[in-house]
Amino acid sequence: MNIIVFGATGKTGRDIVAGALNNGHQVTAFVRNPSKLSMTHPNLHVHTGEITNMEDIDRVTKAQHYDVAYSAIGSKGMFKREPILIQAMHNMVKTSEQNDVGKFIHISFAGVRSDAGKLGLLYKLIVPNVMRNLLHDHREKDAVIKQSSLNWVLVQPPILTVEPYSGKYVHEVHIQPDKSRKLKMSRANLADFMLKLANDSTYDRKEVFVTE
Ligand SMILES: NC(=O)c1ccc[n+]([C@@H]2O[C@H](COP(=O)([O-])OP(=O)(O)OC[C@H]3O[C@@H](n4cnc5c(N)ncnc54)[C@H](OP(=O)(O)O)[C@@H]3O)[C@@H](O)[C@H]2O)c1
Repeated sequence: MNIIVFGATGKTGRDIVAGALNNGHQVTAFVRNPSKLSMTHPNLHVHTGEITNMEDIDRVTKAQHYDVAYSAIGSKGMFKREPILIQAMHNMVKTSEQNDVGKFIHISFAGVRSDAGKLGLLYKLIVPNVMRNLLHDHREKDAVIKQSSLNWVLVQPPILTVEPYSGKYVHEVHIQPDKSRKLKMSRANLADFMLKLANDSTYDRKEVFVTE
């Protein structure tokens, strides 16, 4: 497959890039700072550009046909709004539509879900209040994707960790109350799930909750 990763220098983005290369895919990493990627591979193509610059994104997206685009771009903080990332989402979605990207898979957040309260007090009371601005931005980005003509998947994990890959996680459209869940997820497991979605239509045009 031919894959493009936005946010390839991030912690999850790097795991997606590495996993896609291990699976034998051609991978284009769209980054603003190539030195942060710290990876080389014959099938890895690095494009430098600004996510807020439509011309930069359009150039890389129209250069070839991508079967899948991954969006792993995220805010550095939990408390302030980042309108620049909403604009970035508009740019990624528009250019993906115009250039017929096969599937658009984005990392959202479990906290935005209408059934997040089923995860307990943290997601019922604390997250909605403390992370109000972060949730606002996530909802706006999700809405841009949902209103698009793309074949999208919104992947909604809880808090992410840097634990190693275990392959032990669950995924579902509607949150099932189950106290055995850890309500955290390693980025390595998240990347594994996202890579599997490339060849799996189960969650096409759906929001999917995923957790360990
Ligand atoms: N952290 C959590 O617990 C958690 C929980 C649920 C969902 N999520 C979501 O999961 C995704 C990945 O999280 P992560 O912790 O792996 O991300 P991360 O390590 O913070 O990486 C964020 C990525 O976004 C890029 N980025 C941020 N602002 C940018 C800007 N203005 N212009 C261009 N690129 C920009 C960064 O580029 P640079 O490397 O150049 O800075 C980096 O590639 C995010 O969408 C996040 O919202 C996170």
